[in-house]
Amino acid sequence: MKPTKYIWHKGRLVRWEEATVHVLAHGLHYGSSIFEGIRVYDTPQGPAWFCLDAHLRRLGDTARIYRMPLPHDREAMANACHEVVAANGLRSAYVRPIAYRGLGTLKVNGEASPVEVAIAAFEWGSYLGEEALRAGVDIGVSSWQRVAPNTLPTMAKAGANYLSSQLITMEAARHGYAEGLALDSFGHVSEGAGQNIFLVRDGVLYTPPVAAAILPGITRQVVLELAGDLGIPVREMAIPREMLYTVDEIFLTGTASEIVPVRSVDGLEVGPGHRGPVTERLQQAFFGLFDGTTPDTRGWLVPVRPSRS
Ligand SMILES: Cc1ncc(COP(=O)(O)O)c(C=O)c1O
Repeated sequence: MKPTKYIWHKGRLVRWEEATVHVLAHGLHYGSSIFEGIRVYDTPQGPAWFCLDAHLRRLGDTARIYRMPLPHDREAMANACHEVVAANGLRSAYVRPIAYRGLGTLKVNGEASPVEVAIAAFEWGSYLGEEALRAGVDIGVSSWQRVAPNTLPTMAKAGANYLSSQLITMEAARHGYAEGLALDSFGHVSEGAGQNIFLVRDGVLYTPPVAAAILPGITRQVVLELAGDLGIPVREMAIPREMLYTVDEIFLTGTASEIVPVRSVDGLEVGPGHRGPVTERLQQAFFGLFDGTTPDTRGWLVPVRPSRS
């Protein structure tokens, strides 16, 4: 991680090294933290947020699910996001807003602990590596399943969900894979440790539905809409594991990972074992948003406001 000068913490900018929490913070003990990951891209019009509002909305949804009242409304959060990117002079960034239950009670019911918010911003290249965007990655189905319905809510982006993701991704690394893919508790394809998944067969795009224990990814939604623009038919449906071994193309999506082709699953090549044409078209449309070759017809990009100081 490349440190920046400032982090926005509890309502103001503080120096990076001063953005700390108490060791008895509720969130540290019981997983009561919720967060977002948002990107700022360096576009020809200057640094711009990608889907800022959708991310802050999802943070609000997560807060609601966990009955964690956020101390700042969406507009104040957006202002703080602009402030931290501008104050650090970043042209492109990965931005991490987090809300957590702080120091207060150590009872499991953390409602007596204050909800505190921090927003950090730093430079971060594509999560699975720049080369992976072209060459693709090898992934494996995890022996760990995603959480069952009505246990931990997967529509919520909570820190606790990433214990599941950690088990999946650590196992994948031990087996020599770039990433692990989880099935849901019914044995259907769910998602990667930190990415949604898409499959392509005979020109049709398939992705698991929200009920397959996935995080409803914002990149996933963007890809669904870009596919619509490109006339690529889409089916959101339960995906049996064996479909992974018979499709023409697979790719992963996420804010950190962007759009990454998958070249093999469980040691079996996907199609010819390199990036396929549908994946490439969607990548072109996606990355084209940031170099201006794809028109942003939906207002996904919002310029970063310059620093006031
Ligand atoms: C478990 C999980 N699924 C899916 C995604 C993709 O979501 P998004 O496109 O909103 O970043 C992420 C990344 O944040 C994730 O952590």
